[in-house]
Order: sequence, then C-alpha cells, then structure tokens
Amino acid sequence: MDICFGLGYNTLATIYYIKKNNLDIKLNIYSPEFNLELLQALKNFEYPKNLLQYKYIIDEISQIFIQESNPTFAKYKDENIKIEVFNGDARKYIKNLSNIDIVYQDAFSSDVNKSLWTKEYFADIYKLLSTNAIITTYSIATPIRLAMSENGLFIYEIKNNLKDRSTIAFKTKQENYKFIDMELKKIRNPSAKPLMDKISN
Ligand SMILES: C[S@@+](CC[C@H](N)C(=O)[O-])C[C@H]1O[C@@H](n2cnc3c(N)ncnc32)[C@H](O)[C@@H]1O
Repeated sequence: MDICFGLGYNTLATIYYIKKNNLDIKLNIYSPEFNLELLQALKNFEYPKNLLQYKYIIDEISQIFIQESNPTFAKYKDENIKIEVFNGDARKYIKNLSNIDIVYQDAFSSDVNKSLWTKEYFADIYKLLSTNAIITTYSIATPIRLAMSENGLFIYEIKNNLKDRSTIAFKTKQENYKFIDMELKKIRNPSAKPLMDKISN
C-alpha cells in the first residue's frame, strides 16, 4: 500500500526493483490520492531515467482519471502487476483493505498531512496488516513513532545511503534491526506523546 500515490514514484520504483532483480512475485499495489488534478496531470511530469520504461503504467492510470466523468478508482493490470489508485481520502480508503504486506508511509510531513500520522490513523493501519507486514517511513519523529508503538507496533531504525535514519515498524519483534524502545523513551521523557487526531487537555 502506497500512502499516498502522488507522482507514483514509489509504485514505479517497486516495479523497477522487482524487474531488475528478476523476482518471481505477483504485485498488488493499493494507493489513495485525493488530488484529482494531480492524477489527471501525471502525463506532464518528468520521471527519473530508470523509471521511464514503466511510465506508460502511470500514463494509463492518469488517462482513466481524465476520460471518466466521476472516477473513484483507476486500475492497471498485467500478468504480474495489479495497481488500484483510489481518488479520495486515505483515511476512508484504508478501512476497506486487509492483508497488506508493505506500507509505504510516504505522506507529506505531519505539519501538512496530520491526519495520516496520528494514533487513530495507525490503529486502522494496524488492522489491515498481514502478520509479517512492514511499515516503512522517512519519519523519525517521536510523536509519530509513539502513534505507531501505542497501537502495538515494534519500532526499528535503519540507515541507508539516501537518508541518515528512517523508521520501519512491524507487528512482531525482529532480530536484525536496531530496536527503538518507545516505553523507555516515555519514561525518560514523560512529556512525549503520540500525535492524536484531536488535541486533548
Ligand atoms: C509526499 S506525496 C506522496 C509521494 C508518492 N508516494 C510518490 O511516490 O510519488 C503526498 C501525497 O499525499 C496526498 N494526500 C495527502 N493527504 C491525503 C489524504 N488524506 N488522502 C489521500 N491523499 C492525500 C497529496 O495530495 C500528495 O500527493
């Protein structure tokens, strides 16, 4: 699940990775995006060289949003790939999904897209995860990590060449990643709180 579709970079990068490594897997991508104008304009954006070979997929999806009068979904399908883009609010969309293996938590920052980073939001995300699912996000903020951990997710930190630190979260404990103990963080910093839909007094 790609939260949210935007220019579809995550979707294309996933396809690129699978093809480049000859992975024999079927891919189903589910992605909400509430900006219809953006979905209709995707043809006009420039894409990184590596992804250009798959840009036709984005163009097909965009074309559906252009042609149909009140489109809610655009679907792309080939032998190994299915993509569903939902034009609407992600908070509504995620209530209808289940058995998701990977969540790309790639909304704009919580200052801009607050509703996609709260404890209530992650409660719904938790429900749709498969047992071994992974959530991956660039955010390392404590209120965001608490919004996940207070729903029962285990928080880990990774480093890669693109970003110094980022967060991955699982429903189950992991051995091979650096564990971030959010309970300990709360003891050390009693004022640390998860981001919530509404601020309580
Ligand atoms: C950082 S961009 C996503 C980038 C995208 N993952 C990519 O690979 O190109 C964030 C997107 O979230 C969309 N968005 C923000 N809040 C949303 C919501 N509540 N429901 C659906 N889409 C939302 C914005 O319109 C924007 O396109």
